[in-house]
Amino acid sequence: MSEQGNLLAIEGLAVRYGAIEAVRNASLEVREGEIVTLLGANGAGKSSILNAVMGLVPVAEGRVVFEGQDVAGQPPERIVRRGMTLCPEGRHVFSNLTIAENLKIGAASRRDKSEAAATQADMLALFPILDERRDQLAGTLSGGEQQMLAIARAMMSQPKIVLLDEPSLGLAPQIVDTIFELIVRLRDRGATILLVEQNVDLALEIADRGYVLATGDIVLSGPAADLRGSGDVERAYMGSH
Ligand SMILES: Nc1ncnc2c1ncn2[C@@H]1O[C@H](COP(=O)(O)OP(=O)(O)OP(=O)(O)O)[C@@H](O)[C@H]1O
Ligand SMILES: [Mg+2]
Repeated sequence: MSEQGNLLAIEGLAVRYGAIEAVRNASLEVREGEIVTLLGANGAGKSSILNAVMGLVPVAEGRVVFEGQDVAGQPPERIVRRGMTLCPEGRHVFSNLTIAENLKIGAASRRDKSEAAATQADMLALFPILDERRDQLAGTLSGGEQQMLAIARAMMSQPKIVLLDEPSLGLAPQIVDTIFELIVRLRDRGATILLVEQNVDLALEIADRGYVLATGDIVLSGPAADLRGSGDVERAYMGSH
């Protein structure tokens, strides 16, 4: 099933919380260098998929094939060391630590500290607002700045793929545009990105391919250009209620 060239292939994934079946038989692929977006309404199961991929919640059924190896059930630290990172929903920066300290924590899995310092310099160059405020406590940053920090922190482990869980959540449209421009810049620099979003139009604008999840099932997938403005995504959303 897992085609060659896939960096990540989720195959027949099920996630359950007791009797609640949050995700059923979900399959999706991400190839190197792509932005793939996973769309779906509140409660569709998007975060459950990302959390199961990262080993943060159990995989009830299915495989999570990363670079050709099934990593389902491995602990999160090991998955991070293999090259996957999650930028979680709701950002979760360390409020009482500075920007620079938050970034250092993002590099905790790396042995070579001088390389980690180089990545930090790189991230601060990419996110100038974080550079200006590097000694400021993360808790005092605006929501948009915290989101930028959360993304930069995720990139500090130099992941082969980064999973972004609703980076636009709760942010003003102008800030969302800035965040999405940064995501495109990351991809242009070689990053591979699985982007969970509820902002359908923007996500399909920057993504190469998209999947729509409705109450635990993948109900639609295709090239973003085909999904954009076709009405299919809206119908898939409505079909879920
Ligand atoms: N820890 C948990 N225990 C029990 N049920 C859970 C748990 N986490 C999620 N669920 C349920 O699983 C379903 C999918 O939730 P999930 O958070 O994956 O959806 P989502 O698509 O990320 O939604 P949102 O867009 O609101 O973040 C929901 O019905 C939710 O209530
Ligand atoms: Mg979620």
